[in-house]
Amino acid sequence: FAAGALAGLKVVVSAGPTYEDIDPVRFIGNRSSGRMGFAVAEAAAQAGAEVTLVAGPVALPTPPGVARRIDVRSAAQMLAAVEEAAADADIYIGAAAVGDYRPQQVAPRKLAKQGGAGLTLTLVENPDILATLAARPQRPFLVGFAAQTHDLAAYARDKLQRKGIDLVAANEVGAGLGFETPDNALTVYWADGLLELPRADKRELARRLVEVIGERYRAVRG
Ligand code: PMT
Repeated sequence: FAAGALAGLKVVVSAGPTYEDIDPVRFIGNRSSGRMGFAVAEAAAQAGAEVTLVAGPVALPTPPGVARRIDVRSAAQMLAAVEEAAADADIYIGAAAVGDYRPQQVAPRKLAKQGGAGLTLTLVENPDILATLAARPQRPFLVGFAAQTHDLAAYARDKLQRKGIDLVAANEVGAGLGFETPDNALTVYWADGLLELPRADKRELARRLVEVIGERYRAVRG
């Protein structure tokens, strides 16, 4: 493991899920535990980076070496925190599972049962954090994750192009895969290449991913 792979660079990592509130006691969330993103933050710090970790609601201690942690709840809060932290960053790594939608309105009081009538929630799309950063003239090197249950390669290549980012780390998710588990496997895609990182503990996998990010960063940014 190249200890200096990210020496002197400012790196922002997002991790965990987002919670999109429905009312004061309910929310829409997802199964992300934050483990993958926290492991990436730790590995980046070990590789010499000054790391800011933007964390959704997770039950994890801040990894050793991480300079700053910002805890957020919703996708909107995560976007604001990432935008602020990434303003002078060299690399942004989006390992968070950001909610694609949020309820159009947050009910001020706990919603009551409708007497058997059912309940319809109207959802609106959240802004895309990676795409927002990609649209900036002065943008950090952008690394996204792709979590899919099927057609991983096609989605990963599509994400590279559509979001205008530099690297995509794709993982298959589903029963016992990707989310929540202690280990994971990734295929890393960039414009003209790919690398398979076989199944390993998330911390080990994160160290390999950080090496690839360091190599690709230097290839593009010198
Ligand atoms: O947290 P763990 O339990 O360890 O699980 C790890 C993980 C499976 C969550 C992680 O490895 C992973 O794949 N994270 C990304 C999950 C995801 O939301 O993928 P996506 O295909 O929906 O999004 C693709 C990329 O766009 C991601 O980098 C995401 O951060 C980013 N995105 C998505 C939506 C949004 N509004 N803004 C974004 O920036």
